[in-house]
Amino acid sequence: MIEAQQWHPVALSDVVVDAPLPVRLLDQELVLWRDALGQVQAFVDRCPHRGARLSLGRVQDGQLECPYHGWQFASGGQCVKVPAVPAFVPPAKHCVASYGVQEAHGLVWVQLAPAAEGQAPVPLPVFEAEADERLRKLNCGPYDVEASAPRIIENFLDMSHFGFVHEGWLGSRDATEMSHYEVEATERGVKATGCKAIQPQSNLHSTKPAEVDYSYEVTAPYTALLTKVPESGSSKQGWREAIGLFVCPVTPERSRVWFRLAVADFDSSDEQLQQFQHTIFTQDQPVLESQMPKPLPLDAKAELNSPADRMSVAYRRYLKASGVTFGVC
Ligand code: FES
Ligand code: CO
Repeated sequence: MIEAQQWHPVALSDVVVDAPLPVRLLDQELVLWRDALGQVQAFVDRCPHRGARLSLGRVQDGQLECPYHGWQFASGGQCVKVPAVPAFVPPAKHCVASYGVQEAHGLVWVQLAPAAEGQAPVPLPVFEAEADERLRKLNCGPYDVEASAPRIIENFLDMSHFGFVHEGWLGSRDATEMSHYEVEATERGVKATGCKAIQPQSNLHSTKPAEVDYSYEVTAPYTALLTKVPESGSSKQGWREAIGLFVCPVTPERSRVWFRLAVADFDSSDEQLQQFQHTIFTQDQPVLESQMPKPLPLDAKAELNSPADRMSVAYRRYLKASGVTFGVC
């Protein structure tokens, strides 16, 4: 499964503190915990002794302690202590499977399988705006959504729903016609540029409808970025604000979603910015959860398309070419 070699977001960094945290990724139960060096560890959430859930245990002396017989596991997964037999030195095979972890964009990312031998390591999904020091960054979420990760990404790339799902916010029923936009394959995914829409309330401070110039890019199977030029007349000429959509594929039909905002708005509070994103996403959510089948169909004939759907068609083609199997059908 190619998805196992990708990095996926599983939790906000700041919720992984001093207690083990259960998460699920690609249908696997994992436990996250932070070791004495402050590194997040991701283990299978199953004790190799008698199968208890490690996430019910605790972090003790910088090791993860099982709730059942108190076996302790060090960073990397080696068992280092069996309290019932203090003199016992656990051999190398007394260990729990442990996975790759990185922290970025305010999130913990896990990779279940390293790249195959001889292949280049798989990098984290790209989010260039993170490095733009002028922009303010914050996260929204998590949202637990009863939809597959690809359906959620496709919804984010879809502009022809604005006048209906986001009426009065990102669109209006009087202006549903979409202007032409360009779609191209990139080295890492697909990209749509030159997307323009008149939006009644395109952001927190809008007082009148504005034309918004967007681009979208898929940079990994379950990652999409939106970038937009701040409104004309703003003092932020040459800036590009961005929203990263980072989706954790929990099961083939269930996902956990975060948005990473990189914005030029320094006046609003975090809560106000999050509330705006919350309003928009909770307009999408019931429609997303209603879509059937839940996995995204990759067969070109499985669902009907119009010329407005070129970006989602390109996304499906990219998933198929990449060999993605989780959350698609
Ligand atoms: Fe974990 Fe026994 S089941 S220590
Ligand atoms: Co929407």
